[in-house]
Amino acid sequence: MKSLAEEIIEWRRDFHKHPELSFEESRTSKIVADFLRSIGLDVKERVNGNGVVADLKTIENGPTIAFRADMDALPIQEETGLPFASQVPGVMHACGHDGHTAILMGAAKRLSLQRNHLGGNVRFIFQPAEEVSPGGALGMIEEGVLEGVDAIFGLHLWSELPSGTFQTSYGPMMAATDSFSIEINGKGGHGGMPHNTIDSIVIASHLIMASQQIISRNIDPLESGVITFGKMNSGTAFNIIANQAVLEGTARSFSPGVRNILQTKLETLTKGLENIYGADINVNYQRGYPAVVNHKTEAEIILDVARDVFGPENTGIMKPNMVGEDFAYYLKEIPGAFCFIGAGDTNKPIYPHHHPRFQIDETVLPMAAEWFYQLALKYFGTSSST
Ligand code: NI
Repeated sequence: MKSLAEEIIEWRRDFHKHPELSFEESRTSKIVADFLRSIGLDVKERVNGNGVVADLKTIENGPTIAFRADMDALPIQEETGLPFASQVPGVMHACGHDGHTAILMGAAKRLSLQRNHLGGNVRFIFQPAEEVSPGGALGMIEEGVLEGVDAIFGLHLWSELPSGTFQTSYGPMMAATDSFSIEINGKGGHGGMPHNTIDSIVIASHLIMASQQIISRNIDPLESGVITFGKMNSGTAFNIIANQAVLEGTARSFSPGVRNILQTKLETLTKGLENIYGADINVNYQRGYPAVVNHKTEAEIILDVARDVFGPENTGIMKPNMVGEDFAYYLKEIPGAFCFIGAGDTNKPIYPHHHPRFQIDETVLPMAAEWFYQLALKYFGTSSST
């Protein structure tokens, strides 16, 4: 008979071979739902598209916690050369969500075997579409997946941390991820006669440089923010002054205050440049995921469990990072905590998430399932004693 660890790895490899893009996870969610039903859980399918929600109910009106996994892959052509590499051209599990899904299936199985001794109820949330904005979490919440849930927990495998390590934070952990597009409409003309034009490239340059001062002059130096211009399109030839420039970028922050400053100052700056240069500038600022902010008590609980599962020497508090994650929406609704579980094989070259050669060390998957399992025991133990 296969061990649970072997099963988890097998599931993960199957998902890895058959990756599905955001909101298209129909095969994955069918496998997940069928499995959860086979172990006796109360399963709801087609929640916000391909979402699956399953309840392990042990006590009427008892404490209930939720565990969440995301299931989607990315539009990337895999280059790992693994025997179980993606069979879908141009689609790859390059962020580890195949692992997240398999881990939570394993945890569900382990917990279902203990259903008479748990002291509480567990809801398993398999959500679609973490990789796109606005993402799958919001729709899951709108469909009521948090109703009756006391706390929610989730994890992200992280290739840039050594396998078998665990990190979390007592507060802000990942950033609010907003995006913007700015269209500058000047007046094109001859490269030798600038006085008859409104040069959209000069305005764009000014805007890019000046916006960095929002970070250095408007944000409290002890807080953090990022404004990155990732794309710039303008011009047709070396001797023509460009009529239009289009800039796209992202603004990132941890606190709502900084988030507001980034948006309003960027908008004020463009208004000012409009007046100075006589151009017409349109800003389209889109708010993406909010920041992932852990709740302190729940962060303490997951750290405590992690020390047992991963060892105290492998468990720690992380520096927040400016990547985004739609788990943030759940944490805005109810208490909970999110964590990073190291999945980098230090004997191999480490590629970042979303890279065509991204890989995870599978030996950490069963440990992560064990962490979920121990977390349920700990949580119910704690809540029944208080
Ligand atoms: Ni991810």
